[in-house]
Amino acid sequence: MNQPIFDAEVIKRDFPIFDRKVRGGLPLIFLDSGATSQKPRSVLDAERHFYEFTNAAVNRGSYLLAEEANEAYEDARATVAEFLKADASEIIFTKSATESLNLLAYSFGNAEPGSNFALKPGDSIVVSEMEHHANLIPWQQLAKRTGATLSWFALKQDGRLDLDSIDQVITDRTKIVAITQQSNVLGTIVPLEAIVKRAHEVGAIVVLDACQSAPHFAIDVKKLDVDFLAFSGHKALGPTGIGVLWGKFELLNQMVPFLTGGSMIESVTMTDATWAPVPRRFEAGVPNMAQAVGLAAALKYLTNIGMDSVHSHEMALTKSALLQIAEIPGIKVIGPQDTDSRGGVISFTVDQVHPHDVGQVLDQYGIAVRTGHHCAWPLMRKLNVVGTTRASFYIYNTEADVSALVDGIRQVQKYFKV
Ligand code: ALA
Repeated sequence: MNQPIFDAEVIKRDFPIFDRKVRGGLPLIFLDSGATSQKPRSVLDAERHFYEFTNAAVNRGSYLLAEEANEAYEDARATVAEFLKADASEIIFTKSATESLNLLAYSFGNAEPGSNFALKPGDSIVVSEMEHHANLIPWQQLAKRTGATLSWFALKQDGRLDLDSIDQVITDRTKIVAITQQSNVLGTIVPLEAIVKRAHEVGAIVVLDACQSAPHFAIDVKKLDVDFLAFSGHKALGPTGIGVLWGKFELLNQMVPFLTGGSMIESVTMTDATWAPVPRRFEAGVPNMAQAVGLAAALKYLTNIGMDSVHSHEMALTKSALLQIAEIPGIKVIGPQDTDSRGGVISFTVDQVHPHDVGQVLDQYGIAVRTGHHCAWPLMRKLNVVGTTRASFYIYNTEADVSALVDGIRQVQKYFKV
């Protein structure tokens, strides 16, 4: 077993939810951070502190609380920027990664004909077969609205994308390439370099879905050289109701707003309006301020541990789990079988047992996993499975959690006599 880089048992103490017991007094073994992560006390405290001491609507008041709220909100923006190695002017707060991706799809869809972002019949949008719905449906629907074609990278047997035909998938008709950095089902980490290079060669924009990557390893948007990136706060130890959209300033600056209303305007008459500078142009209404502050606390918590340590810890658990699961007959791991270019997510099937039944038996042992299609229905069809059981690891998981999962899988087989 690899040595953990930090002691996850100590980390666990920072998360109040692990004080509770489940199913008749069992400790909680939470292996569903791919769906949403648990929250450390510092995040809960930051949100509470905002409401107890600072609460006022940002961008509106000139009184003390409003000033402090503005400061807290803009500090949160700066923290997110630092986390992504970006500039604060390029960070837009949304309510979720899903909203971030929809913001892009609607803004591109509303672009003036002939402008940089406008799509027309014959243009293409490229995704992959391993996208979760949040990074598929907005593009699929944008293609429908504009007459553009949706194309995609196919999945290979080994759970990786087929990039052999990259020049046929990304062509000089391609305007947008929207791709995940890490599959939420397979754990596969996508080799972005070749995709970004080809996309930029043909003048296409690259949108990176970092929902499953930003919480788990270091991201540097400049090094990645993508054009836009989205992730959600709640998968990165932060609160629900807060998402991030990062974009290159010169691109954001050319885009039309998605939601309109208060705060995002420069001037308004009864019949027209002009838009505030980026990023406020994309933050209509009173934003989710306490959630932004909570997210900043979460990113600080992660940064304090160190994103490389976070990743190493998760990979040690993943390696151990893959080795132990491989020894159980009748269990099939879906996706890469080794830890090469892969994250801490393991999807598997149990022969002759429906994933929901697997999940229910594991739950009897206090083990929380996700079961079903994982918001990636086309991928399930491609894999020819009704669904899978997915264990996803984070900083508070331990080698004991992996052992409990492995024992739990054996109990599932025993219960169903398979
Ligand atoms: N995409 C999220 C997941 O993988 C919801 O669970």
